[in-house]
Amino acid sequence: MHKLIDNYNRNISYLRISVTDRCNLRCIYCMPEEGVPLMDHEQILRYEEIIRIAAASARKGVTKIKITGGEPLVRKGIPDLVACLNEIPDINDISITTNGILLHSAVPALKKAGLRRINVSLDTLNPEKYSKITRGGDINLLLSGIDKARAEGLDPIKINVVAMRGINDDEILSFAELTIERPVHIRFIEFMPLNIKPGCDKGYFISNPEIQREIKKIGSLFPVKSDKKSGPAKMFQIKGARGKIGFISALSNHFCSTCNRLRLTADGKLRTCLFSDNEIDLKAPLREGISDGDLEEIITKTILSKPQRHKILEPSFKKCLRSMSAIGG
Ligand code: 5AD
Ligand code: SF4
Repeated sequence: MHKLIDNYNRNISYLRISVTDRCNLRCIYCMPEEGVPLMDHEQILRYEEIIRIAAASARKGVTKIKITGGEPLVRKGIPDLVACLNEIPDINDISITTNGILLHSAVPALKKAGLRRINVSLDTLNPEKYSKITRGGDINLLLSGIDKARAEGLDPIKINVVAMRGINDDEILSFAELTIERPVHIRFIEFMPLNIKPGCDKGYFISNPEIQREIKKIGSLFPVKSDKKSGPAKMFQIKGARGKIGFISALSNHFCSTCNRLRLTADGKLRTCLFSDNEIDLKAPLREGISDGDLEEIITKTILSKPQRHKILEPSFKKCLRSMSAIGG
């Protein structure tokens, strides 16, 4: 199988595909209340186009695909997309990141189509607070979606928690305790000031080391081997627990040196780094009838332009032009 190594000795094997910039929630850390400007429908890649790009990427070494959004399940036909992606030779791991609101009814078809596992965003266990953080979401929909996913055997179920001071920092231990009885992965994600209006993110940021110190109050955290599927999360376990606790820190701890990702935006731009607006358009060439060989060449060139590391902590860093919902967190 082909392997593509970039200029910094990273084997690029993971493609994150954003299938829509639309979302049925408005999480406070992701979008302003009024939402963000949306793409026109004809700007959004059609499924045939996504599949061509995924297949070309697979011929260049991609083996793992994540479907993201916006909220991917607001787009019709996601199980069909999963089924087609699953047919691509060498793609052996397909997962989805979802807010879970539409998950319950989607799980059986997704499972049948070949989906292995899911990541669900859940930042609080308190229904009122959930509604506040997501600006209107119903936690019961999400919880029933998670139950359904577990019942259908999607494994592991990874729960993403964006830790925010003054918002959900009082629930860190409750989340950690969930892993004692349940085989879930709770992954604390450091808040990233990506496309938030200046001033609106004041004080949210809590570093992962601080969260770890908090959790150690209820038990020791043992490092467990992070397998390839853990992505950038550093994984731990409370002694005797069935689940695991992960920490994803884009800011306080560089994971750029092992970053194996490429991102495809909903409007067909290949992006080499979450934090860099350097994008290569694939939609126009596709619609102009590019050959498979030339498509592969663009992908290779893009991979070779992947920056060594993000510059988000440097004074010269400017806010990203796209919001997280348009890049596909
Ligand atoms: N900071 C950290 N994570 C974010 N996400 C979205 N916006 C942000 C942000 N500003 C991530 C969350 C969510 C997923 C869809 O995207 O992990 O679960
Ligand atoms: Fe939607 Fe996810 Fe953004 Fe929340 S974080 S508004 S669920 S895209």
